[in-house]
Amino acid sequence: MIEYGHIYNEDCLKTMERMDNETIDFVITSPPYDNIRNYNGYTFDFENIVTQLFRVMKKGGVIIWVVADATIDGSETGTSFRQALKFMDEGFKLHDTMIYYKNNPMPQTGNRYHQMFEYMFCFSKSSPKTFNPIKEKTKYRGLANMKNRGTEGELHYERIERTTEKKVGNVFMYSIGGGISTKDKIAFKHPAIFPEKLVYDQILTWTNEYDIVYDPFMGSGTTAKMSELLHRKWIGSEISKEYVDIATERISMYKQNDLFAIS
Ligand SMILES: C[S@@+](CC[C@H](N)C(=O)[O-])C[C@H]1O[C@@H](n2cnc3c(N)ncnc32)[C@H](O)[C@@H]1O
Repeated sequence: MIEYGHIYNEDCLKTMERMDNETIDFVITSPPYDNIRNYNGYTFDFENIVTQLFRVMKKGGVIIWVVADATIDGSETGTSFRQALKFMDEGFKLHDTMIYYKNNPMPQTGNRYHQMFEYMFCFSKSSPKTFNPIKEKTKYRGLANMKNRGTEGELHYERIERTTEKKVGNVFMYSIGGGISTKDKIAFKHPAIFPEKLVYDQILTWTNEYDIVYDPFMGSGTTAKMSELLHRKWIGSEISKEYVDIATERISMYKQNDLFAIS
């Protein structure tokens, strides 16, 4: 039996062992990668985690896997690509390679351009069962003249109604940092938090109310908080007790104060 609204303070492999097959609608997570950060010395068994994720995802379920590469010995490691290929080998579809673009990244020295983005790989078990696209207003709307060629090459004129909205592109831009990624000061005790809006946008896109969201690397609790806000059920794993405590306090502050408003 798995408890919803709970962060399991353990290796995510153990949490997934508690889950029946096809339990989870949606995963959003950022794994530790390339030992960029030490996270209190914990490691993770990537290959087995992917196997377990495939087992516990519902058909049509979606995983958003946010990852980038470290640069080691003068080369990017390629870990992100290797991980994506492993997901595909396991049976997931690489539904979309999306980009998390940082409006204000950490400046980099040396002979490389500033690192502006991370990958947001979107893996799906079969075709996604839910897609609620984020939309933006179109620049041109109202009536327009359309010109088409017929089978004999003759011109046909048609009056069409242009739509007023279109779905956004797959590059998602966010500003990050103190007071911007979240207003919760406590979250910054963790070294690598998601911007809340990123998680909010992806949960809205791939799930409906009361769907089950899982974050195997819960960190400061961003996925839990956004799931609460959007009325999704959630489950988390986080191996570090220190981070579980931070996330638990953050979620309880949210529940008490309902302080959050997304712009
Ligand atoms: C990049 S952080 C996640 C941050 C999170 N997205 C947030 O918004 O705060 C990765 C987290 O994975 C945790 N972790 C590392 N190995 C783990 C494992 N095997 N199982 C569960 N959590 C693990 C680390 O302690 C760290 O907090």
